[in-house]
Parts: sequence; C-alpha cells; structure tokens
Amino acid sequence: MTAAPETGPARDADSAATPRLGKDLTGLEGLSAAQITSILDTAEPFKEVSRRRIKKVPVLRGQTIVNLFFEPSTRTRISFEFAEKRLSADTVHMAASASSLTKGENLVDTARNLEAMQIDMVVMRHPVSGAARFLAERIPSKVINAGDGRHEHPTQALLDLLTIRDHLGGIAGLRVCIVGDVLHSRVARSNIHGLLALGAEVAVCGPPTLLPIGISEMGVGVFTRVEEALEWADALNVLRLQLERMKHGYVPSLREYNRIWGISAARLARVPSRLILHPGPMNRGVEIDSDVADGPHSVILDQVTNGVAVRMAVLYLLSGGRPDLAEAAKGGGAK
Ligand code: CP
Repeated sequence: MTAAPETGPARDADSAATPRLGKDLTGLEGLSAAQITSILDTAEPFKEVSRRRIKKVPVLRGQTIVNLFFEPSTRTRISFEFAEKRLSADTVHMAASASSLTKGENLVDTARNLEAMQIDMVVMRHPVSGAARFLAERIPSKVINAGDGRHEHPTQALLDLLTIRDHLGGIAGLRVCIVGDVLHSRVARSNIHGLLALGAEVAVCGPPTLLPIGISEMGVGVFTRVEEALEWADALNVLRLQLERMKHGYVPSLREYNRIWGISAARLARVPSRLILHPGPMNRGVEIDSDVADGPHSVILDQVTNGVAVRMAVLYLLSGGRPDLAEAAKGGGAK
C-alpha cells in the first residue's frame, strides 16, 4: 500500500459554522465535514417515518419534483420516489427513453419545459460526467445528482456513510477500503470525498487496469492484493464490475477476477470481523460471493434502507429545512 498524504479534506473541512447546503447537491467534493454530518444527522429522524404504518409526513407538501433518469436504476430511483412520497411531495418520473429527448430535444430545453410547469427540484441520473452540474448551472430549480457518469453519486456515498456510522459508531479514524472497479465508479469518488472529509483513512484495491491513474493524489492508499486490503480495513465497500462499460478486456475473465479479487467467506475468515458494503447491483460470484453478501458481516440491505432516510434528509435540506428542525417538521411544524 502507498501512504495517504497528511493533508487533505479531512483536516480543513470542519470550519462551516452553519452547515447549510447550497442550491444543489451535485457531489460531495468540496462539502465540509459539518455539512456532511448535518445531512447524516438530519436523516436520523427521518428513519422512523419509514417504520410507521402510514409512511407520510407533510414536510414537502406543495413541492413538485421531477425524477429524470437517463440510465437504468433500481435502488436510487425507487428510493428517491419513496423519499419524495413519504415527504408528501408531488412527483413525476420521466424516463429519458420515453420522452422527447429521443426526438432530439436537448437536456436544457427539456428541463426548461419542465420548469414552465412550475417544478421545484430535479433528481437526475445521467451517463455523462458533469451533467448534473451542467444542468444545475442553467436552471433555477434545485438539482440533485443521482449519479453522473464516472463523476459522483453523492446520495449513495451518504447512505454508505450513514450505514458505516450506524454499525461502527463513527467515521473518523476508521479505515475503509473500496475494492474493485474503481475506474468506472462514481460511487468510489463520492465515497472518497465523504470519508476523507469525515476523517477516515481510505484506500482502494483492485486490478491495476481498474484503478484510475493518479488515484493516490485524491489522498487514498492503494493496495494491489485483496488479502492486504482485508487485513488493513475496518470496512470494505465492494464495487460492481461495470461489465456494460468494459469493451476492452480489463480483466482476463470473470472467474479469474473472482479468484484473485473476489470477496469470499474463506478470505473473510482469515481476518477479524469486517463490515461489508456493496452499493448494488451485485454480480454474485464475481466481485462478491453469495455467502458474504448474505452473511453476518454484510450490511448491504441496511444501506438500501438508509438510502430512503438519507434522500429524505437531502430533499428536506435543499427545500430550505433546518437540520435542527427536522424532527418538528415531521409533525407539520416549521422547517
Ligand atoms: N447503487 C445504485 O446506484 O443502484 P441503482 O443503479 O440500482 O440505482
């Protein structure tokens, strides 16, 4: 492993006196520890809403949100929809493949037409890195990035952080290793920014073909053997091999990848207890074996559960809600 530098976002990020977010959430890069912590803390009171029999609070009553998805999604899209509905927002889902985008309309014109119908927020997934920021700079509605190309997936990283905090009691000082296809991963980039901001030590591990050149400049260590990563880390975030983006033989074969890099019960048995995360969707038997995914160290479904609360928190905060008033807002009080 190569050492992470002493300087980085973790050391200078805790200065924001008022942890408000800006107009949009397009990434975790540049957010302070106070801002990230305030999102995680705001998610706490919202967890309880999803455990109620009637899962609805009036926090976003009257707000209109468009979910604009240019790529397939199960967890993120449905989690945002649940979060919006449980906060009483009016929501519309727009699949790009069934819209006038297929007739040549550009993204900004599409968004401006939606705005002409008086919307408040856009949640967007897009295959191009930077698309969320591009849109956010061109429309007055608030924009939440639900994953853009290889750039960032901020709400995924936030739910990962919340899940680690739930299980290990905090983030600062922990060692977290992101294992697998880091090259194509927006989840990895957002996790690196968020974990470093909160004071974790971060490393990546994978075949050299799937690690971006210069990744250590982000302030992370690099392991070349998964056994070393397992020895070092308190928690592993195991990434999906993004086979749809691999046209050039990045790995010899899926079987070979599993043999060298896969997280198996046999490998886990050689080290003390480790927390295992995976953002999904999983390739079982490739980057993670089923007995690990479904085993005692796995918190993969906790991540999914936390995703709804984290997205409720982000929607609430971007709509102008104050972190300290989230509990009261659930009952219809001031935000
Ligand atoms: N983790 C994640 O982004 O999953 P989906 O692609 O199913 O939304």
